[in-house]
Amino acid sequence: MSFQGGDTVSTAYSFSPDGERFPLPGPADYAAEFQRLQELVAGQRALGREIVVVVGVGFVGAVMAAVVADAEDGEGNPTKFVIGMQRPSVRSYWKIPLLNRGLSPVKSEDPEVDRLIDRCVHHKKTLTATFTYDALKLADVVVVDVQCDYLKEDLGNVRNGQADMAALEQSLEIIAEHIRPDTLVLIETTVAPGTTEQVAYPIMRKVFRRRGIEADPLLAHSYERVMPGREYVASIRNFWRVCSGINDEARRRVVGFLSDVINVEEYPLTVLDRPIESETAKIVENSYRATILAFLDEWSLFAERNGVDLIKVIEAIKVRPTHSNIIFPGPGIGGYCLPKDGGLGVWAYRHIHGFEDDIFRITPLAIDINDTRALHVGQLVRDALRNMGRPVAAAEVLVLGASYREDVGDTRYSGSELLVRRLAEMGAEPRVHDPYVDHWWEFEKQDEYPSPEYSWKRFFRNQDKLKDLRVGKDLDKALEGADAVVFAVRHEPYLNLDPDEVVARTGQPVAVIDCFGILDDAKIKRYFELGCEVKGLGRGHVKRIKDEVKAEKR
Ligand SMILES: NC(=O)c1ccc[n+]([C@@H]2O[C@H](COP(=O)([O-])OP(=O)(O)OC[C@H]3O[C@@H](n4cnc5c(N)ncnc54)[C@H](O)[C@@H]3O)[C@@H](O)[C@H]2O)c1
Repeated sequence: MSFQGGDTVSTAYSFSPDGERFPLPGPADYAAEFQRLQELVAGQRALGREIVVVVGVGFVGAVMAAVVADAEDGEGNPTKFVIGMQRPSVRSYWKIPLLNRGLSPVKSEDPEVDRLIDRCVHHKKTLTATFTYDALKLADVVVVDVQCDYLKEDLGNVRNGQADMAALEQSLEIIAEHIRPDTLVLIETTVAPGTTEQVAYPIMRKVFRRRGIEADPLLAHSYERVMPGREYVASIRNFWRVCSGINDEARRRVVGFLSDVINVEEYPLTVLDRPIESETAKIVENSYRATILAFLDEWSLFAERNGVDLIKVIEAIKVRPTHSNIIFPGPGIGGYCLPKDGGLGVWAYRHIHGFEDDIFRITPLAIDINDTRALHVGQLVRDALRNMGRPVAAAEVLVLGASYREDVGDTRYSGSELLVRRLAEMGAEPRVHDPYVDHWWEFEKQDEYPSPEYSWKRFFRNQDKLKDLRVGKDLDKALEGADAVVFAVRHEPYLNLDPDEVVARTGQPVAVIDCFGILDDAKIKRYFELGCEVKGLGRGHVKRIKDEVKAEKR
């Protein structure tokens, strides 16, 4: 993942996650950079290629830029030339030189990400990256992939927060200042419903009028369904898309553009009438997912307290085709999107559309439940240790997995972060292992990441020492001397860990907490036989297994 600490830090360097130092461009560099782009674009136009500028080369924009750059016609000739544009901020500038070396600024389990970027930069030569907004002057199409955050003021109360439109609004204004009137502007950012028509359009039209342009901006919206992980590239290229345009021309252009870059033959586009409809589709899609996850939180507790294994219950239910998408929630529902998207919708109702009443009950409740689910894991750790006669205070607790989901290195709003913070508050000594995360910036840079005021640190006491938390890469070493082991993420290396080996590494019986249905009954039994204590989210049946082992020992 990328470190995106405070933009306010004043220094002339931007550091990549590997610690490489890149000097920020100075005023003198801009003219030469634009000259470089103009020359490149002249050559590409001569080849009949469309010029696409992707604004914001983060998790979505970097890979989308490469997917567009990889587009070909029926004869295998590239049809687009892509300029990934990124503002030269201290926290993000490094992505530009990295991309220009043909390296991905995002880490992924999908080997196609690295191959794709390398192919487009070095072989097809259809992808470059830049820091100058002047690139926008050269664009036929602009794709907007900057973030639009939802800032929460409380833990577990999404209503107390607001959409942070600053980056998006600033980008739109700058885009309008630079583009030709006939440039298509495609907003991919997940936005508060109403943004394209009621925020972007007025901003851009005002700038157009100031520039003496009478035409309306050609604005379109199509949201990303990308899943950073093993199917990162395929989740952009080989997946269904919803799109819309602000008028007939914008709609026609966005359909044409997406048809060129995405596999629309197998995954046909859904074209909606108005941008507010595609914006709402994104928010409802993610709120639905957040809701079905939140719904199981109470049944997870029910299961723990009544001898039920919720994992088996879910498997039983899933057999029924109408219920096949029921999913077990792990220790909190993180990632960048699910914790915030419903908030954008609730916020828009009042602050974009001006309604005074409060129609939302389920969406905010679901987010609030998901945002606090991980805290319960702290209780399970405490109870398991207590059953072994050990206090949680001063216990060495190993958390296996820092990211928000399996096989990715993205730690944004992960349940593990909340758990580590709660464990530290309870006096435990948390340690962490994750094969995909090099730096857990939420801790290492907790005074400035994700921004100085918005670290989750502010909701807990006793957090200062967590600045020193480092992600272990050597699992054997991480296990050494641990009092408790929490299976927090379904990362591949954790799925088949043998209880005998775990206990051999820890050097003593441990408290084992299964947050994701990782342990089967045979493993749970073995842990008990080895003198360990086992607890798990939604895993009420462990008590039965424990009693069985006790009876066998008698
Ligand atoms: N990450 C996901 O899995 C995912 C999935 C689906 C949709 N989305 C949506 O896609 C959007 C982008 O998400 P992301 O994960 O790529 O975010 P990100 O923070 O990784 O990337 C955003 C990039 O935009 C850059 N940026 C910000 N302001 C800019 C400006 N004025 N000019 C130029 N660049 C600027 C930032 O520096 C950053 O590199 C969000 O709306 C998100 O909700 C994300």
